[in-house]
Amino acid sequence: MPPFIVGNEYIPADHAPHPKQCYALRAHVGRNSETPFEMLYGGAAGGGKSDFLLMAAAQYAWKYPHFRGVLIRRTHAELAKSGALMDRARKWWLPLGAHWNGSDKVITFPNGATIEFGYHEHPKHDGQYQGGEWHFCGFDELTHWPDPNAFEWLKTRLRKTDGDPIPLRLYGASNPGGPGHTWVKERFVGGRDIVTGAAFDAKSFYLPATIDDNPSLNREAYKETLRDIHPTRRAQLLDGDWSAREPGDYFRLEWFGPLLEEDRDLGERVKIRWWDLAASERDDAARTAGVLISRLQAGVRVVEHATAFRATPGKRDGKIVAQAMVDGRATIVGLEIEGGSGGPAQFEALSKILRAKGFRVVGARPRANETDKTNIEKKTLAINTPSDDSKMRRAAPVASCLERGYQRRGECDQTDEPWWGDDVGNSVTSQRDGLRLVAGTWTQSYLDELEGFPDQTLKDLVDATSGAWSWLESHPYGLRHAPAQEQKKPATSHNVHPDDRPELDEDTGRSTSGHWTP
Ligand SMILES: Nc1ncnc2c1ncn2[C@@H]1O[C@H](COP(=O)(O)OP(=O)(O)OP(=O)(O)O)[C@@H](O)[C@H]1O
Ligand SMILES: [Mg+2]
Repeated sequence: MPPFIVGNEYIPADHAPHPKQCYALRAHVGRNSETPFEMLYGGAAGGGKSDFLLMAAAQYAWKYPHFRGVLIRRTHAELAKSGALMDRARKWWLPLGAHWNGSDKVITFPNGATIEFGYHEHPKHDGQYQGGEWHFCGFDELTHWPDPNAFEWLKTRLRKTDGDPIPLRLYGASNPGGPGHTWVKERFVGGRDIVTGAAFDAKSFYLPATIDDNPSLNREAYKETLRDIHPTRRAQLLDGDWSAREPGDYFRLEWFGPLLEEDRDLGERVKIRWWDLAASERDDAARTAGVLISRLQAGVRVVEHATAFRATPGKRDGKIVAQAMVDGRATIVGLEIEGGSGGPAQFEALSKILRAKGFRVVGARPRANETDKTNIEKKTLAINTPSDDSKMRRAAPVASCLERGYQRRGECDQTDEPWWGDDVGNSVTSQRDGLRLVAGTWTQSYLDELEGFPDQTLKDLVDATSGAWSWLESHPYGLRHAPAQEQKKPATSHNVHPDDRPELDEDTGRSTSGHWTP
């Protein structure tokens, strides 16, 4: 039996925990109680998740008058909804003589223990929890948070004095799906590394519970209500299936058609690897992402490889050069020129290194917002509306090309599309439109991110995909001439950058370009 459940007056008699809830209420036992223990409870709908969070709060509140807990929803509206956490808490505890402070949203039990209710929708809400100290924090519907920042912030608020017997617990309750699907899945269920494709284990504890673990609900009636919803959503809600993704608004796996084998001969093609740059190693920062897309002679585009990593500028540039060597000189290197005054200089520095090694380098500066435009552009380009998100605008033509290919190959049932069936029976090298995808170790994580767009926080791979695609679109035939292998280099001298010095023959120590330099 979990601690402090038997005889606990703060858990109503008609809500005695079910076996799975009991299991969750003792999951922290035997772990280090000085540092917060993290757990995700649930997975499927109706598994008794919200009730579990109330029980977990009541567990130590009943035993220890100095217990302090906080329960959180993402928005104020969700928190205040009738039947949701806060409403349910008042129904459970006010009849026992607990006091409700409506302005601070705090329940004080007859013994003095407290449970607060809050919301956290935006980083500016960090301040609401600034001075707080809690033993227990529960996030209901954890995947409603698009990134782990609020969860991490509250974790730093879990503290206690030396010798305090109350364990520190940080709990989440959630179904799969929603804007935070990927980070919650990676943290509690596990995922796949985009660079190596290796599966990695979750770093925190996950206890799945489904509707079958909640005998209080009329299961058959509830399952019946889910019968007509989208199969993906049903798999998420009924089975707690984390691998089922909601159909993306922009990108869907089936639109790519059958995946292409990695070593398939795609023939003559223009290839570009486009880099969306970032410059930090921090876990929550944006990543540097590079996507290699080619355009085959007949017209179809193929995503041949994708990678994403977090690195400081020096390491990042090193990785970009190393990746270019792997891709080979036939692949053009495309670099995003970042906004602000440093962008062009940074582009020049990196492209100089790449050009010295014989790569063709191109750059472009995606417009993020009004303030990023030059004065001439402000006068000549249409004004963005505030809701006009630049990443979505950039992804829209790519998504359109992707779906068009799906229709041309005749794989969809919308047979009234003007180009439906144009490419039926054509092999990939003779398809004229669309976007195909190569199967590699990186492919699943690439798709996870694309299908989650635009709800999901991570958008770097989508952005790099848009960059590569739009370069191919404006340069459909690629290069007329092969890139020059040798750059014209000045004679070696102390004030010439090492990258610009001529290469010396290893044996003779002389310039390989044929001239002897003293
Ligand atoms: N141990 C219990 N005893 C009695 N009723 C319970 C128990 N656990 C859950 N219930 C009831 O079952 C119903 C569903 O539980 P709950 O709302 O906690 O599930 P949930 O997983 O949070 O669902 P959702 O996915 O809809 O948020 C609620 O009416 C709740 O009060
Ligand atoms: Mg719930």
